[in-house]
Amino acid sequence: MPTFPTNFVWGAATSGPQTEGNFQKPHQNVFDYWFATEPMAFDSGVGPDVASDFYHDYASDLALMAQAGIHGLRTSIQWTRLIDDFETASLNPVGVAYYNHVIDAMLAQGIEPYMNLHHFDLPVELYQKYGGWESKHVVELFVKFAEQCFKLFGDRVKNWYTFNEPKVVVDGQYLYGWHYPQVIDGPKAVQVAYNMNLASAKTIAAFRQCCPQDDHKIGIILNLTPAYAASDDPADVAAAEFAELWSNNLFLDPAVLGHFPAKLVETLDRDGVLWEATPDELALIQANTVDCLGVNYYHPFRVQRPDISPQSLQPWLPDIYFKEYDMPGRIMNVDRGWEIYPEALTDIAKNIQENYHNIPWFVSENGMGVANEERFLDEQGVVQDDYRIDFMRHHLQALAKGIAAGSNCQGYFVWTAIDCWSWNHAYHNRYGLIRDELHTQTKTLKKSAAWFNQLSQTNQFD
Ligand code: GAL
Repeated sequence: MPTFPTNFVWGAATSGPQTEGNFQKPHQNVFDYWFATEPMAFDSGVGPDVASDFYHDYASDLALMAQAGIHGLRTSIQWTRLIDDFETASLNPVGVAYYNHVIDAMLAQGIEPYMNLHHFDLPVELYQKYGGWESKHVVELFVKFAEQCFKLFGDRVKNWYTFNEPKVVVDGQYLYGWHYPQVIDGPKAVQVAYNMNLASAKTIAAFRQCCPQDDHKIGIILNLTPAYAASDDPADVAAAEFAELWSNNLFLDPAVLGHFPAKLVETLDRDGVLWEATPDELALIQANTVDCLGVNYYHPFRVQRPDISPQSLQPWLPDIYFKEYDMPGRIMNVDRGWEIYPEALTDIAKNIQENYHNIPWFVSENGMGVANEERFLDEQGVVQDDYRIDFMRHHLQALAKGIAAGSNCQGYFVWTAIDCWSWNHAYHNRYGLIRDELHTQTKTLKKSAAWFNQLSQTNQFD
């Protein structure tokens, strides 16, 4: 029976743009804008405008979360709600009051706030004016916004995160067309990755000034997808090595070690696509590493050698070095199209322990998105989501192995507390421990909520 350390935090993760709805926001983020201009880009034409209406329901939503045994909630402050003028970071009073109420309500429920500053929600105006994360001016504006957050809420919020999954911004906006503006441009993607690393380090530097207290910590949340080679053929192994550098180390190394992986820099430089960086910026990245790391884990990354040689005449994209591999016989979450491979969590735990000086970390997202959960409603109207319980159980077993071997993992945050809006897939797949009946916004505990509550009370499961 796996058990977890005494102070282990059982929590849930979500984000502002996926829960609040865009009520009373002074600005649109890239998703608000994309939905307003192209609603059919989203599953069933459902956008982020109402989401799970956390904006109005936060008090009762948080009470339900407490019933599900959630002791920590990771959510995010929306740049487009808090700030009126991006250049000066002047405050929007309605936004300030809202986040004050939410934080106070969390604390009143015994739920520790874990606040993230960016969850894919770049203000669209900053993309249109400056090219968003392509611009180092936007880096400066982000730091100003972050400083406002630290000053306003640092008295009550002790755990902060600069970004959620910056790699997904790179992938979604600049490589694979999942996010507005759906640019496909490898070299731009490389510069954006660098700029987001720089923004994270600069935000950490500002945090050290604003919140110097020992119990205040700052980190970054990364989606780690361990790269496994399709075979031990050296070409597949080389493909997996590059995939690991590009997908994981690109953000993990600067965040924790303070520098980019030399092998990756060498390859990008040789290909003529290396980012523009100054020695001062690199020194700043070196000096401002994270206190802790959040790891979002959903699926592994299986890779094989590319079909054609990287030397072929073709536009530069990172994928010239690897190709995704669909391993025969893999277990799938068919609704989401992601492989289920809990063992990777043991590998992640070991990697952090051995190569990232065993920095404190937590699972900041892990969960299972399933379509048509009405299928599983019982006569009392409770979703019997045994598949979600099994998913968590298997991942927690793998995590417990890593912890038993000495990895410094301090919490597990399920994605998510209440069914929420998921980017392009909107409400197609449901992830919550708590169901949201969208048409009425009625929220009810699923079977997994009772299981999670038991887990968080006892620190163990059968
Ligand atoms: C993550 C993302 C979340 C959520 C989750 C499940 O990549 O951080 O915002 O959408 O996937 O789809």
